[in-house]
Amino acid sequence: MAEIYTSGGGYTKTDLYSLFKQEGHTNLFTALDKKDHNEKKRRFTDLYSNSNILGSRVLDFIRDRAETFTSAYSEIASADIYLYLHCYTLDCVTAALFHPYRTQSIKGGSDKEMIEYFYNMFSRDVSNGGPLIHDYAWTSMRKGNHLDFTLAARLLEYPKIGLSNMVVECLDHIGAGIDTTGDTLCFLMWELSQPYNMKRMGRLSKELRTIKADGRLENLLYLSAVIQEALRLWAPGTLPLPCYIPNGGRVIDGYFLEAKVIVSCQSYTLHRFDSTVFENPDIFLPERWLEEECSTERQRLFFAFGSGARTCIGKYLALAEMRALLYSVYSQFRTRPADDMHASMKLSDQFITSRPEGMCCQLTFERLDS
Ligand code: HEM
Repeated sequence: MAEIYTSGGGYTKTDLYSLFKQEGHTNLFTALDKKDHNEKKRRFTDLYSNSNILGSRVLDFIRDRAETFTSAYSEIASADIYLYLHCYTLDCVTAALFHPYRTQSIKGGSDKEMIEYFYNMFSRDVSNGGPLIHDYAWTSMRKGNHLDFTLAARLLEYPKIGLSNMVVECLDHIGAGIDTTGDTLCFLMWELSQPYNMKRMGRLSKELRTIKADGRLENLLYLSAVIQEALRLWAPGTLPLPCYIPNGGRVIDGYFLEAKVIVSCQSYTLHRFDSTVFENPDIFLPERWLEEECSTERQRLFFAFGSGARTCIGKYLALAEMRALLYSVYSQFRTRPADDMHASMKLSDQFITSRPEGMCCQLTFERLDS
């Protein structure tokens, strides 16, 4: 994995990524040429840095959405968190992209229809599956006057790239930011809700209740371990991230491979194949991330966000969303499978990503103090 993604050995993404171009335009994700990719990334990479996410007003909007999520759905006897977590992640990512024109889909109305459309199309491609999201992105970009921390405000500082390229960049971040974070959170909340995880949920709640909502959630060790274990098991990692062997060929694991041969790694496999590093690899064991033994090897094999120059730009946004949501729910409530929950939560491979097979996850919230 290090040889392909982080050695600086000249491996490039394959033409498969061109399938994800939107409206014929290349964006950060689909840029194959290194120079083109660097130029795009330089324009806005600082907006997505950890310090910027934790220090900018984006975090206020994330906390606000997390609170809204919990107050709206904890009242429902059986809440389909699969759908509602997609609303949550849409609202968070659109705050980072377009505020003051962020969506408020948790509250319902036409913003929620965007998610319902997306969800009913069973699609991962916003340009084909989500004309409502597409129209929203165009309208929001054209309005101007976005807050200074947004991607839209930053892209508008480069008028030469043209409005279509700006919209296509934003559409990609919406597409990349909804299911990835939403589905991982959904699997995680389902797992925590199982009777055999009562103790883990209790440990998490206890830790969360040691600080206030505006405290430094990123410093909470058990919360971080729970999230990392969820990303290990359920981050949408079934897409191998294919790259070409560079000119001159390369030796990988003792095998010589000619230029243009396609090589790849995927997190699903890296997170499971070595049971000396990940003992009982298919079992949810957040405590493994707190152990000293094999900690370097575990971090080395962790590939949920990819690695190297093409690593996920939205990683710190996704982590902040996950922490805020878990804080808001588990510092106040415990969750359990609702009586009418019959959908399958099996991990279903969708070629690019993976998701809960039944696309539905009914949970009941119970107040901790009750
Ligand atoms: C749990 C949540 C997430 C996971 C597991 C995840 C995973 C990944 C992975 C594995 C890649 C590398 C793809 C490759 O090399 O082909 C990637 C790239 C990317 N992700 Fe994420 N992602 C998540 C959340 C987000 C969010 C919230 C955004 C929104 C900004 C985002 C935007 C992107 C973009 C723009 C790229 C392309 C980066 C580049 O090529 O330079 N992701 N993501």
